Amino acid sequence: MSQPNGGTFDIVILGAGSGGYAAALRAAELNLSVALIDKAELGGTCLHRGCIPTKALLHAAEIAEQTREAEQFGIKAELLSIDMTGVNAYKDGVVSRLYKGLTGLLTHNKNITVVAGEGKLVGKDTVEVAGQRYTGRNIILASGSYSRSLPGLEIDGKRVITSEHALELDRVPASAIVLGGGVIGVEFASVWKSFGADVTILEALPRLVAAEDEDVSKQLERAFRKRKINFKVGKPFEKAEHTDNGVRATIQGGETVEAEVLLVAVGRGPTTQGLGYEEQGVTLDRGFVITNERLHTGVGNIYAVGDIVPGLQLAHRGFAQGIFVAEEIAGLRPAVIDEAGIPRVTYCDPEIASMGLTEGKAKEKYGADKVSTYSYNLGGNGKSQILKTQGFVKLVRLNDGPVLGVHMIGARMSEQVGEAQLIYNWEAFPEEVAQLVHAHPTQNEAMGEAFLALAGKPLHAHS
Ligand code: NAI
Repeated sequence: MSQPNGGTFDIVILGAGSGGYAAALRAAELNLSVALIDKAELGGTCLHRGCIPTKALLHAAEIAEQTREAEQFGIKAELLSIDMTGVNAYKDGVVSRLYKGLTGLLTHNKNITVVAGEGKLVGKDTVEVAGQRYTGRNIILASGSYSRSLPGLEIDGKRVITSEHALELDRVPASAIVLGGGVIGVEFASVWKSFGADVTILEALPRLVAAEDEDVSKQLERAFRKRKINFKVGKPFEKAEHTDNGVRATIQGGETVEAEVLLVAVGRGPTTQGLGYEEQGVTLDRGFVITNERLHTGVGNIYAVGDIVPGLQLAHRGFAQGIFVAEEIAGLRPAVIDEAGIPRVTYCDPEIASMGLTEGKAKEKYGADKVSTYSYNLGGNGKSQILKTQGFVKLVRLNDGPVLGVHMIGARMSEQVGEAQLIYNWEAFPEEVAQLVHAHPTQNEAMGEAFLALAGKPLHAHS
């Protein structure tokens, strides 16, 4: 691919991750000319170092777990070993097929000019790449995020690692400390345990996946205890030091844990330093780009999308914001994105999927007496029993009003989030959903049963 020599475009996009490339594709559909700049591979964190490779690892982990448990289903099988070379080849194969497809989609588009190189905002309408100037009638900042660390905790990529390093490991560590019991933490803890490592999660807050509904955290902790994944919650990490063959972590109070590797999963920070944003007048808050609800920065025609904008750091939020800004620039006046209407999925075993407000947040917002909840236990769901999984579908509703939140945990529950999001975003009343017929036997039926119960006519449910 020959490198262009600058030029003028309707939109110049800095960053070709989920947010940036979605904006490029939608803008191109709307016949706008786009320069799409990235210093690394098209597709960004999600495709190369995030969602896709981690979910491939989680699928391999599920196969390991199923092989180990095959006898429960009357199948004789033996898990001999985890061949990380083979696992990585499978994972990398998935990434490279998707990468090839995406590259074709972007580079063959007559309205999109892909620019390889490190860009910097040098004017309110100009990004410079290797001395060439790309001027945009509009600019979209989409530079993404990086793995954060803690003061005094040095990432060496060998013993103290980030999720990027963890994805490249050529072996299963014998033991691992996972610092942070958020999304990345519980997903890697789940993978490594399934692959045979001894895992301990250290979380400062009082519970794992603290952003989720409290009942979900409790159920995950129960499941992790059963899986013998160790975790220590409620005490912040203090320090880490190298030992002869690994690393020792100390938490508040002096308790220590030792392991071969320590994964740092304490959140992701916005990649906004040294890119010229502040020099051009863009407001940053702790590194995040501040925008209005229409994702405009308040400076010139500069917009921002994705992980650099405060809020959920999720690929599908980036896609939605990218599409939104492209349509905004084209003058289509799209509807503002409702952050609470964005589905959230954590792919550990058991999986967590949620929509809208937790019970706690709903009560804070509407008052405890205005909100009711119902939890349908997967114990009553045939397909979940076939899979031998445990968990629930928990609904939060405004009394005499719509559904405010759906919170699910159990094997394969990620696939249920589609219906949950329609229910939430279309502000359905439980009585309306209860009328819809859910196929039997599916796990999706658990959602139908939960709504039947909340509408006052439970079927396979204990009251
Ligand atoms: P996170 O914000 O989900 O979790 C970080 C955890 O580290 C928090 O629970 C926090 O309390 C804990 N922590 C912070 N300082 C600590 C300390 N000193 N000692 C002990 N614990 C401490 O961030 P995470 O897991 O790193 O993920 C980053 C982003 O990537 C998230 O925004 C997430 O949404 C996204 N992501 C999404 C996935 C998905 O949708 N399935 C998968 C993986 C990541």
